[in-house]
Amino acid sequence: MIFIITILLAYLVGSIPSGLIIGKVFYKTDIREHGSKNLGGTNTFRTLGVKAGLVVTAMDILKGTLATQLPLIMGADIHPLAAGVAAVFGHMYPVFAGFRGGKAVATSGGILLGYHPLLFLLLVCVFFLSLYLSKYVSLSSMVAAAVALLYTLITDIHDIPLLIVLSVIAIFIFIRHRANIKRIIDKTEPKIKWL
Ligand code: G3P
Repeated sequence: MIFIITILLAYLVGSIPSGLIIGKVFYKTDIREHGSKNLGGTNTFRTLGVKAGLVVTAMDILKGTLATQLPLIMGADIHPLAAGVAAVFGHMYPVFAGFRGGKAVATSGGILLGYHPLLFLLLVCVFFLSLYLSKYVSLSSMVAAAVALLYTLITDIHDIPLLIVLSVIAIFIFIRHRANIKRIIDKTEPKIKWL
């Protein structure tokens, strides 16, 4: 029973629609009607500016981190990454926002912050290096997801749960970015201008 409650709680934590809450409460705006229409940090930056973007990104990251701590908090014998994946699922398909959520990037980062902080820091560097070179947030998110998997295959092949979760997350992230991939190929994906 505690297994189901903990996984459900992790899903509910992931379901908290940070972008929708900040957008509606402070800006009277549903970011899903603007920009890429995605309920995520990038579209919050794009639609509502830096302050809102930073808050939403931080909240989305913390959802993943909190989820990895839930098994400990609840005293449940569940791998922290299993709770983390439930939160990522909640972030993508939030029960509190009509199941129209984000693209899994920040919340997945939050899982790593809770489970493997060093890998999280490495991926932040990879993300910003890719962003500096390409100017595409979406591409940089996918590059980070691929590097996470590659890095773990090389350095931590014995951590099977991490390998499985990073593979699942990479698949999620690529599928959720299919419109971005199409735009990158068509050269219509917006580039950032500040880096
Ligand atoms: O984390 C989502 C990001 O990679 C892309 O967001 O709004 O440009 O589709 P967006």
